[in-house]
Amino acid sequence: MSLQKVIVTGGMGYIGSHTIVELINAGYHPIIIDNLSNSDRSVLEGLEAITGVKVPFEEIDLSDSKSTAQIFSKHADAIGVIHFAALKAVGESVEQPIRYYKNNIGSLVNVLEAMANLKIENFIFSSSCTVYGQPEKLPVTELSPTQPAISPYGNTKQVGEEIIRETCSTKSSELHTISLRYFNPIGAHNSALIGELPLGIPNNLLPYITQTAIGIREQLSVFGSDYNTPDGTAIRDYIHVVDLAEAHVVALTRLIQKQNKSNYEVFNLGTGQGNSVLEVIQSFEKTTGEKVNYKIVDRRPGDVEAVYADTTYAREELGWATKRNLDEMTASAWAWEKKLRG
Ligand code: NAD
Ligand code: WQD
Repeated sequence: MSLQKVIVTGGMGYIGSHTIVELINAGYHPIIIDNLSNSDRSVLEGLEAITGVKVPFEEIDLSDSKSTAQIFSKHADAIGVIHFAALKAVGESVEQPIRYYKNNIGSLVNVLEAMANLKIENFIFSSSCTVYGQPEKLPVTELSPTQPAISPYGNTKQVGEEIIRETCSTKSSELHTISLRYFNPIGAHNSALIGELPLGIPNNLLPYITQTAIGIREQLSVFGSDYNTPDGTAIRDYIHVVDLAEAHVVALTRLIQKQNKSNYEVFNLGTGQGNSVLEVIQSFEKTTGEKVNYKIVDRRPGDVEAVYADTTYAREELGWATKRNLDEMTASAWAWEKKLRG
């Protein structure tokens, strides 16, 4: 395997940190660039404890074009870039659209510019199943139509993909990109040394469940029980964050080995299985023996009823599929929560 340098923006974050571990396992040399706006320096200790490697870390705001250019020049020998860095709170983005566009779109443009100047060719972009909105047909394939975004956050993923597609299609561009559309990542590394670190009140389901079970939150609100689903609660495709991390290594290696079919490719990353909110709670209660205090409330505005991935293309073309089930996701999330508060 290669011993090649890879720049990982947002590598201190939830998905980024798990990907750092898998990159090191695969023989790559990751460099983290992050401004710690939604992460903590202590992640470096967890990474070192798991891998035995002191991962180089550059504290930089990528929405600043000058510092981005500077730091990329320092690592001009990188073989590729995995771009996780973004703000991701849907509700907050509705209140602060400019901040989201400046941060997410500004950073993306700065990174692409720095890559072009240095002729770094391989790029992996964190996209989201949010681009599909509520699909007319399930499961969702990569050819399913995208829907107009309902939040500025979602729009940064749509526009981000568009900017990259246009950049890849210019005659002079040497950029090769894979956009990965994640479904719902949950869980943590089985060492419980890294995991999700939500700042403040969690927006996402799993951290809310674990914080309720451990006593930080009084009660979980289950948003809606009148959806047209078997138990009435909304359905998502929950994917173990370590499976997701492994997909990044596969995608990057595909680009480095020039196995990509075109210079802009898109893959869905999910398990292919939909689970309802109540099924996730049941899995958590079964694997941990803890009760979740919850109450059914109204639907959350903007939520879709059901979405899950068609995994055929990722399996056949990328040669990647998930290995971990829902029980492993909820159990590992709980182990991490206990470690955090222990
Ligand atoms: P996260 O917030 O844990 O990680 C993002 C990291 O990027 C953080 O460490 C943050 O400090 C850093 N960052 C943000 N803006 C930056 C900037 N301007 N300069 C430098 N660093 C910056 O989020 P995550 O869950 O790990 O998500 C990673 C990526 O995946 C994001 O692009 C997100 O939009 C996307 N995504 C996440 C999910 C999800 O449910 N977690 C789903 C689909 C897509
Ligand atoms: C999952 C399910 C909720 C919290 C969001 C973003 C999306 C993507 C992933 C980045 C839904 C229900 C939740 C709670 C609940 N992120 N729920 N009580 O909404 O599928 O997607 O994260 O790209 O863009 O929108 O994830 O974890 O918030 O919700 O009942 O306290 O859990 O209604 O059905 P979602 P989620």
